[in-house]
Amino acid sequence: MINMKKITIKNLMSVGNSPIIIELDAYKKTLITGKNGTGKSTILIEALTYALFGKPYRNINMPLLVNTTNKKGMEVKLEFEVDGAEYEVRRGIGPKVFEIRKDSVIIEEDASTGDYQTYLEDKILQMTLKAFKQIVVLGTAGYVPFMQLTTPKRREVIEDLLDIQLLSIMAAKNKERVSIVQSDIVQAEHNLQLMTQKQSMLQKQQADDKVKVDELIQAEKTKLVGLEHKLEVALTDVLTSTMVLAKLGPMLSDGSYQEALPGLYAERGTLQAKIADHKKMLHFLTTNDNCPVCTQKIDTTFKEKKVFELDMTIDEIGLRLDEKVAGINVKEVDRVRDQKIKTKIQEVQSQKAVDESSVRHIESAIQSCMDYIKTLEAKEFKDMSQQLVKLEQMINKVSEHRLELMNDKYCYAAINAILKDSGVKSVIIGQYIPVMNKLINDYLTKMGAMYTFELDSEFNETVKTRGMENFVYNSFSEGQKYRIDISILFAWRDLVRLISGSRVNVLVLDEVMDGSSDTDGIDALVEILDHIDDSIYVISHSEKIEAMEFDRTIDVQMNGKFSEIKISV
Ligand SMILES: Nc1ncnc2c1ncn2[C@@H]1O[C@H](COP(=O)(O)OP(=O)(O)OP(=O)(O)O)[C@@H](O)[C@H]1O
Ligand SMILES: [Mg+2]
Repeated sequence: MINMKKITIKNLMSVGNSPIIIELDAYKKTLITGKNGTGKSTILIEALTYALFGKPYRNINMPLLVNTTNKKGMEVKLEFEVDGAEYEVRRGIGPKVFEIRKDSVIIEEDASTGDYQTYLEDKILQMTLKAFKQIVVLGTAGYVPFMQLTTPKRREVIEDLLDIQLLSIMAAKNKERVSIVQSDIVQAEHNLQLMTQKQSMLQKQQADDKVKVDELIQAEKTKLVGLEHKLEVALTDVLTSTMVLAKLGPMLSDGSYQEALPGLYAERGTLQAKIADHKKMLHFLTTNDNCPVCTQKIDTTFKEKKVFELDMTIDEIGLRLDEKVAGINVKEVDRVRDQKIKTKIQEVQSQKAVDESSVRHIESAIQSCMDYIKTLEAKEFKDMSQQLVKLEQMINKVSEHRLELMNDKYCYAAINAILKDSGVKSVIIGQYIPVMNKLINDYLTKMGAMYTFELDSEFNETVKTRGMENFVYNSFSEGQKYRIDISILFAWRDLVRLISGSRVNVLVLDEVMDGSSDTDGIDALVEILDHIDDSIYVISHSEKIEAMEFDRTIDVQMNGKFSEIKISV
């Protein structure tokens, strides 16, 4: 319970340099009156809110709180008591001040207090600004009564009162999460697809490499078999040639014809010439009788003898010539045979050389073939297995992540269902509805209303009183509506006090009275206020308020540019 005691205000909005001081708990009922814009709301609502929460009550920026004429020295000092301890909060702008004193001793702002404002709200006041606004101020000038709001707006007010608008924020956040998770899932699935494609590509590549090399080895081995066969053939040819040559060599003659034949041909020539000479002589003798030199007649005897001798000599030389020709023939046979054999040997030798060269070629082809096979067999394939293992691990990881995301999505969807208006909020609100209705009807009773007014879970009204069964809020008279509005205001105040456990000894009704249509309404309100222990401040400029009795009146007026108060008790 916070017991407000005294507030001192300087340079706050319309308040000037000379301080306005109000003893907050000195009287039960205070009327704050004055013309529009004299500073009635300022001296209570703005001053209290600023002192405790460092913020404007109305929707303006902080610097706009400083009095525009003086432009500095804005300060509000609030004295209050919580659990037997006396506190004093001093706060201001120009210069900036924020001090809290407990039993006259300043509370140092240090590590133990943390954020000074949070310390004040959490440790001392134990109240939030929102609860404060609901508990301390009723109505605020020009407020729209709850029942005149649209149903969604009514729901907003209730969520705010019950502090469950957090659930709406959570629902919105949760929706965001769902869409983030959804896009994460899409991303994960895309990644999975890419990785699986890469995996099968690597697997195929590895298999392809091995198959290709195996095929190459096989082809080389087939080629090797062909080459070995060719080598065998070539070697056989070389061997055959060698054997042929070995046979041909000994078939050659001793070569003696080479030496013999020229002599024999020369001798044959000499013999043939001799025969020719002798035959020439013989012919002369047989055809001539005179000597060609001396022209004398050749002796017949001599001639006959000479012819005889010449015949004999020719025959003899003829024999010798035949011998020589026979010898030549024998040697010529050798020569011609040798010639043929030598030609053959040359042929065979050149064939052998060709075969030997192809043997060498084939052997070297076999060598390179075998080397190639060895290289192929020794070939180390680019090992994809590690890459594949890594990829597999990554795939597993992403799959797990995807599962987690799916799980998250499922959970978020479940949370969504819970956070929906029809979900847990409805349950919470549903639980409070009877409490709200009880509070509203208690106040209606206190105000002497002869009807009961209830809200359902959609915040639509039902009237249970006989004869008014089909009534809606608008069916009621202005005065009756006023009673309902006031009851709801007080009911919400009580609800917040119930929920937050916060209590303050000050209640400000800002122009709440001014809406009532008759003095009956005022009487009814007085009835309620009589049941309230707090110091009540009624801000009003309605004449009807004269029907109400006050312990103190604070008349707020403008003195020049500044607000001024006149207190009468
Ligand atoms: N920074 C400021 N410096 C000086 N005057 C200001 C400043 N801000 C607002 N005002 C004026 O201060 C006055 C106080 O307003 P406030 O709301 O307290 O009046 P009120 O008496 O409650 O009026 P109403 O009866 O209309 O509700 C207004 O006249 C407003 O124009
Ligand atoms: Mg006002």
